[in-house]
Amino acid sequence: MLPYCLLKPVLFSLDAETAHELTIASMKKLGALMPPAHFHSRGIEVMGLHFPNRVGLAAGLDKNGEAINGWGKLGFGFVEIGTVTPRPQPGNPKPRLFRLPEKQGIINRMGFNNHGVDALLANVKEARFKGVLGINIGKNADTPMEKAVDDYLVGLDKVYAAAGYVTVNISSPNTKNLRQLQGESELDALLGALKARQTVLAGKHGRYVPMALKIAPDLDDAQIVNIADALRRHHIDAVIATNTTLSREGVEGLPHAEETGGLSGAPVFEKSTAVVRALAKALAGELPIIAAGGITDGAKAKAKLDAGASLVQLYSGLIYRGPELIKECVAATG
Ligand SMILES: Cc1cc2nc3c(=O)[nH]c(=O)nc-3n(C[C@H](O)[C@H](O)[C@H](O)COP(=O)(O)O)c2cc1C
Repeated sequence: MLPYCLLKPVLFSLDAETAHELTIASMKKLGALMPPAHFHSRGIEVMGLHFPNRVGLAAGLDKNGEAINGWGKLGFGFVEIGTVTPRPQPGNPKPRLFRLPEKQGIINRMGFNNHGVDALLANVKEARFKGVLGINIGKNADTPMEKAVDDYLVGLDKVYAAAGYVTVNISSPNTKNLRQLQGESELDALLGALKARQTVLAGKHGRYVPMALKIAPDLDDAQIVNIADALRRHHIDAVIATNTTLSREGVEGLPHAEETGGLSGAPVFEKSTAVVRALAKALAGELPIIAAGGITDGAKAKAKLDAGASLVQLYSGLIYRGPELIKECVAATG
């Protein structure tokens, strides 16, 4: 494989979404051809699952699970595919993905473009990944908010048997009103329904598949405490902190900074890590935290563990640093 320092200028000469499509197509091919990376790690038990290392691919890069084997060969201990919705949907009009290279940032308003849960499951069937596979579920844009719970239940039913764990994504800023599900009564109803269904599915399939909730970084301390209480009350298995931010702190005045969407990468690191810290305090070790947001080197991955996380996920950092970042993060997090 070409070193990323040679590939990056080629990818960055293309518009961001074309580069993304090329990456998925290449990773699909490389999944079969590439020798697997072997990183030394003791591995870790989280949510009752064995993770070969603490470093995972964050949701949204491989929404349809098209290149699972490729991500595995790069050395990820776990791979989260999705967000997938019950029915296929095109997402928002293009352009909808922007680089902010001066600050190692990305803004996206993709809007859960995906081929639907059945197509994702067909891809998962073909995959031979030895690590933990997470499947991240969401709602279709045209499902009314009062029926949102139904979409998550369809998602959970469909992906349950194929998943190592399931992530419930209520934190994308690009599906209208989705983040309202983080509100106290909405969250209570959603988690109650999902927990009841998880119990039924565990009996039916004879296997308990843990469920994680993915939250936004744009929450104040009181909201974080409320969410932590709901997670404990409903015995949710983990929390992923965080998704992208609506804030533009640190990127003001840069080209594309005013584009609508969620900001990720280096500019979200502090905000996201503060959420991990607040969650760790509120949860007092009762459930594990998976940290995503602005990890651009090994030290930042380690800082997420120091803030209280058990596992970390990468997305934007990979675009700027390439697969070397995975190796660095595995080394830094043991
Ligand atoms: C282009 C793009 C698409 C994303 N799509 C999703 C998604 O579909 N579901 C999701 O839960 N998170 C999605 N995310 C959020 C990431 O999984 C991650 O939580 C966030 O980008 C922070 O991590 P990072 O700073 O390492 O990128 C997306 C991020 C980007 C940049």
